[in-house]
Amino acid sequence: MFKLLTIIGARPQIIKAAAISRAIKKSFSDKIKEVIVHTGQHYDEKMSAIFFDELNIPREDYNLKTGSGSHAVQTAEIMRLLESVLEKEKPNAVLVYGDTNSTLAGALTAAKMHIPVVHVEAGMRSFNKSMPEEINRICCDHVSTLLFSPTKTGVNNLCREGFSEHTLPPFNINNPKVYFCGDVMYDNSLYFAAQAKSQSSILSKSGIVKNDFMLCTIHRDSNTDNPKNLSEIFRALIKISETQQQNIVIPLHPRTAKVLEQNLSPELFQQVNNSTLLKIIEPVSFIDMISLESECTMIITDSGGVQKESYFFQKPCIILRNETEWIELVEAGTAIIAGPDYAKIVDAYNQLASSKLSFAPLFGDGKASEFICSEMLSVLN
Ligand code: UD1
Ligand code: UDP
Repeated sequence: MFKLLTIIGARPQIIKAAAISRAIKKSFSDKIKEVIVHTGQHYDEKMSAIFFDELNIPREDYNLKTGSGSHAVQTAEIMRLLESVLEKEKPNAVLVYGDTNSTLAGALTAAKMHIPVVHVEAGMRSFNKSMPEEINRICCDHVSTLLFSPTKTGVNNLCREGFSEHTLPPFNINNPKVYFCGDVMYDNSLYFAAQAKSQSSILSKSGIVKNDFMLCTIHRDSNTDNPKNLSEIFRALIKISETQQQNIVIPLHPRTAKVLEQNLSPELFQQVNNSTLLKIIEPVSFIDMISLESECTMIITDSGGVQKESYFFQKPCIILRNETEWIELVEAGTAIIAGPDYAKIVDAYNQLASSKLSFAPLFGDGKASEFICSEMLSVLN
């Protein structure tokens, strides 16, 4: 039996884990035993627990309960607690997702214990190292043995950093293997879309109407912790919602909720609170989220995952950042990088609302998770 130790911690990783766990259950249950370690980076019910039952993710075997903290404290604490779990479990490989502090801590701890690291969502780059995630991604990729990239751009980024697409086995940290394999989140969105249609009541619960609302998420530290940026974004949301007389639903990340009053001027904060068109709600489940994504008219976000999902559900997307790892969306013309800039956000709205968009397949065939499991088994076993 191949023992795979999966590390999750932040919301998007919990959701991504559903895809691989489902593939293991469906096709590899006699070959792969998965041990799940939750670092506890996200811990609110709506940022973590809500996803397990809904997405049929096996409960974690370990919860390190590290919680929030500065980058150094959070990363170090995960590493400190994870080491003894890895010593005890002695897995054949450690699987990490994406680019959070949990990803970095997991990859560094495993690599230093000579356990092969499998990185899902390898090669993504924003080329902006002031973004904590960019540092996490680069470091994680460079200690990984199997690097699964969801896009061709990701593979090209890795090749530019000295990786090769043509390495031969045996693979190890000094001779890693790079794959272009599609996106496990595309697998998930396809799989759960039907369920979202039949089960979600988020539209009626939020008092909104299909095809008559926009969806917005904001959580990047460069936006939440910078009063000017946060204000530009909220001013633009008010302007667009009022001009269009359309609701904007904002399932607010706890990070943003905590700083909203402090980082907006009292006038703007009051305007946001009094607006009947802006609907700030708590974070929603994944089924509710993809229901919102598939029924809205446009998505406005600084989230990596939500940008991609805008493409899966064929919606125009305004990116509230100055760069993106998902450059294919911008090249396809379905997303515009506006940054936290009032005028650019309003312009992007006008441009996208008047364009005819097309969405050619970009993120694989919905079977990335099966491919990852089968490659891990054949290459690392
Ligand atoms: C983290 C990831 C980011 C990812 C995001 C997904 C890093 C460096 N960042 O950002 O890449 O896009 O998760 O959502 O790893 N908080 C709560 N309850 C929770 C979790 C967080 O209140 O359950 C609050 C705390 O005040 C905490 C703050 O949010 O200090 C930030 O949380 P943290 O996990 O450090 O970073 P995120 O902004 O969530
Ligand atoms: N998501 C969710 N509920 C929400 C907001 C987001 O289920 O209220 C999902 C979203 O559909 C996507 C993932 O969380 O799959 C993205 O996570 P997030 O935006 O927190 O992080 P990022 O992708 O930017 O790292």
